[in-house]
Amino acid sequence: MNLHHHGDAELAPGLVDLAVNVRHAPMPSWLSESLKRSLRDLRAYPDQTRARTAVAAHHARTPEEVLLTAGAAEAFVLLARALAPRWAVVVHPQFTEPEAALRAAGHPVEQLILAPDFELAGVPEAADLVFVGNPTNPTSVAHPNLERLARPGRVLVVDEAFADTATGVESLAHRGEVPGLVVIRSLTKTWGLAGLRVGYLLADAALVRDLSAVQPLWPVSAPGLAAIEACRSPAGAAEERRIAADLVQDRATLVEGLRAIPGVRVCGAPVASFVLIEVADGLAVRAALRHEGFAVRRGDTFPGLGPDWLRIAVRDAATTRAFLNAFAEVMSRSTGAAQ
Ligand SMILES: Cc1ncc(COP(=O)(O)O)c(C=O)c1O
Repeated sequence: MNLHHHGDAELAPGLVDLAVNVRHAPMPSWLSESLKRSLRDLRAYPDQTRARTAVAAHHARTPEEVLLTAGAAEAFVLLARALAPRWAVVVHPQFTEPEAALRAAGHPVEQLILAPDFELAGVPEAADLVFVGNPTNPTSVAHPNLERLARPGRVLVVDEAFADTATGVESLAHRGEVPGLVVIRSLTKTWGLAGLRVGYLLADAALVRDLSAVQPLWPVSAPGLAAIEACRSPAGAAEERRIAADLVQDRATLVEGLRAIPGVRVCGAPVASFVLIEVADGLAVRAALRHEGFAVRRGDTFPGLGPDWLRIAVRDAATTRAFLNAFAEVMSRSTGAAQ
């Protein structure tokens, strides 16, 4: 299975992007202003102090418990490089890069595939490294009480790349007292900054030191640091709450519309900025949607899913309605053809 297939591979000129889970709304002016200001002093090497302090304050942690990274993706690689797990378990379906990073570092990986409803159970007691997403990409499912998976001697990595705007997700980012807990956050999704590469992890200070020892120097650029500081300021936090509230509305429009299309099954109760669905003959449906001008994310590159699963990003209501009309048409043709 290709663990490096991502939504951006689904895009092509002229297609509406429902495949990549990065928000499309214009950048707030306070964020673009701070990015512009950072360009005035690119001569200096980046200084992380202010960004790290802002992240720590946002999550009620100390700066020593914060490691800034070039996107959440770098955090997976650092963990894979710094840790020497005896028994690494990756809970699937989930984003595939944690497993790819572990394998690239030479660690055997056990896949724990959740089925049929993606409820989290069955983590082996002796696993000493566990990766889980919350909310999970691509299922949009939230897992409650994940701290119950923490054990002395185990590193529990919770990927909260989509937690900032998800509904009803119990973030563990502030839970410094949970042993072995690593929480990974991304600023690329909500803030539309995938090209800037900004994220971080939160862990106990000793693990942060071990991870930073295998990190390249100056991993986050000065513009990246400016963005982190701005997004984790009180103004950024207030905007994040507004974005989360809008997302509830926009997701409801998508989910209700999908549920009204015969032959479409929406997976569970989605909480994030994307929705997973199941349809018969998913690859043909995906191809027909492309023909209608819409790119959705194929599900079959996620361990535990197959070709009949498709992931759809939540967009503004107008885009979603146009998509739903095209989708209803595609489904009526495909169910008509099957009769
Ligand atoms: C669940 C999850 N975690 C992490 C990432 C990586 O995010 P970043 O852009 O911050 O590296 C992604 C990207 O798609 C993701 O879906």
